[in-house]
Amino acid sequence: MTTQPLVNPSISLQPAPQPPAQVVLENLVKEYGSLRALGGVSFNIASGEWIALMGPSGSGKTTLINILGGLDTATSGRVVVNGQDITRLSESDLVRYRAEKIGFVFQQFHLVPYLTALENVMLAQYFHSVTDESQAVEALKRVGLADRLEHLPTKLSGGEQQRVAIARALINQPKLILADEPTGNLDEANEDIVINIFRELHQSGHTILMVTHDVDIARNASRRIELTHGHLTLDTTCNFLEQPKLCPHGKPFPSSGCCSTLDPKSCTP
Ligand SMILES: Nc1ncnc2c1ncn2[C@@H]1O[C@H](COP(=O)(O)OP(=O)(O)OP(=O)(O)O)[C@@H](O)[C@H]1O
Ligand SMILES: [Mg+2]
Repeated sequence: MTTQPLVNPSISLQPAPQPPAQVVLENLVKEYGSLRALGGVSFNIASGEWIALMGPSGSGKTTLINILGGLDTATSGRVVVNGQDITRLSESDLVRYRAEKIGFVFQQFHLVPYLTALENVMLAQYFHSVTDESQAVEALKRVGLADRLEHLPTKLSGGEQQRVAIARALINQPKLILADEPTGNLDEANEDIVINIFRELHQSGHTILMVTHDVDIARNASRRIELTHGHLTLDTTCNFLEQPKLCPHGKPFPSSGCCSTLDPKSCTP
């Protein structure tokens, strides 16, 4: 009698390989004098993830996003983006990093008040060429503002201003979009429009780290990270919207639909 192997040898029992991290935060510390805004935060971001960054006021969300975007410097720790440790960059290299790799969207839009929508977008273009204007027009069309090109910010609604800011963030085709409460100043209708743009960006493969206080908005993201007093206190990945397909530890999702990135056991179905 021949004995059959209990497990089909062609089926690998190894966890599925995880995509390489686009961003690695390692023991990130930020001190303002005696105040510790970030007390040693570590996590990775995979390419194409949409992460909702949450936590109470003053917990360090903006501080983290500003350091990751090269707008502020860390006291210690490492921030590696696409293999490059940005904590070691010179000021001029940081300018280049911000312009080429990062798209920022802020709660307060930060448009230049005396420039038109088109000029605000063109101002952010890093590689100046004769095609500049047509690319900027395309970016504004993408956010539904083809008929607002020549408007000054004061002649635009809050939602329209935020869409100009998103077009400006996208103009250099950044790998990483950092958004700090992008719907914080918008009414519900404009919030929907802006979140739909982020959905499209996510579907087209952009990596998004978005600060929000709104649980409904956070539900659009596949992963939620929470900070409390500068420490990472929650990191949950869910298969809402059927993505991603696997838990961070390479196993199928548990029936609850969510698992903790911090605890491999939580991935066991
Ligand atoms: N430039 C600064 N100088 C001194 N302290 C600062 C500075 N920026 C931030 N802080 C402090 O660091 C802590 C974290 O601030 P941060 O702005 O990152 O919080 P947050 O989570 O974004 O809060 P919110 O939800 O209110 O925007 C707070 O205690 C804040 O007062
Ligand atoms: Mg903030």
